[in-house]
Amino acid sequence: MKTGDPFREGDLCLLNDAKGRQYLVTLTSGSTWQSDKGSLAHDVVIGEPEGVTVATSTDAPLVALRPRLADYVLRMKRGAAVMYPKDTGALIMWADIAPGCTVVEAGTGSGALTLALLRAVGDRGVVVSVDKRQDHAVHARRLIESFWGGAPPNLDLRIGDVEDIIGDVAPDRIILDLPEPWHSVAPAVDSLAGGGVFASYLPTIPQVQTLREELHQAKIFRDVDTFEILMRSWTVEGRSVRPDHRMVGHTGFITVARKRLRRTR
Ligand SMILES: C[S@@+](CC[C@H](N)C(=O)[O-])C[C@H]1O[C@@H](n2cnc3c(N)ncnc32)[C@H](O)[C@@H]1O
Repeated sequence: MKTGDPFREGDLCLLNDAKGRQYLVTLTSGSTWQSDKGSLAHDVVIGEPEGVTVATSTDAPLVALRPRLADYVLRMKRGAAVMYPKDTGALIMWADIAPGCTVVEAGTGSGALTLALLRAVGDRGVVVSVDKRQDHAVHARRLIESFWGGAPPNLDLRIGDVEDIIGDVAPDRIILDLPEPWHSVAPAVDSLAGGGVFASYLPTIPQVQTLREELHQAKIFRDVDTFEILMRSWTVEGRSVRPDHRMVGHTGFITVARKRLRRTR
């Protein structure tokens, strides 16, 4: 699928109204989208190129675009709390997720981070995504496949405790968005190669402290950093140029560490 291609039955479509509101729909022939601005038959959009402006039954204009991954993550019907795009971008960079990487990720949750990892590792890489809750894994698979347009060939989705799975995989990167990542430090010590990255996303500082202490005690990690990402968007309307009144104040702290090899002499 290329940017600008005509919409097809089953595609995701983001309808954008004149006030900047966005509505995510899955295009289904014969279905109708309803809002306070009137209705729109999905068949009006199907066959039209991405970027087209269509009109509701009350002549309200709507611009039809495919959702970016960030749009999708913020609007999909999620179960578990998702990692915010502002954090995902930084994590991909600092955990150095690259084409061809083998990544162990847990928990899958709603699959938001999984989707970004799948893109970053590409066709030659693999994401082994683990969740201990079957209901979360099932829901995440549905959300992932809806965005991907089918099952991603580079996804290995497993149900279980990540601590038991890290050792089977020999990953290049371990990425954890779960409450007690310190239990995975010992398996990471055994399975990461020298230079491998361990990364975690945690909502509170006591959790970060516990993780940092465990990483310190392992005596094999270096370049250990903890940081948070603040993103403040701005209103730019005529002479009103200022930060928005509201922002997402806190999401989570990212901790990244690299494994070194023990000295042999
Ligand atoms: C906050 S959610 C992850 C959200 C995900 N990163 C996303 O962006 O959609 C945390 C998930 O971790 C799972 N979990 C917690 N402890 C786990 C463990 N030890 N092994 C595997 N999954 C675990 C939970 O079931 C939950 O689905």
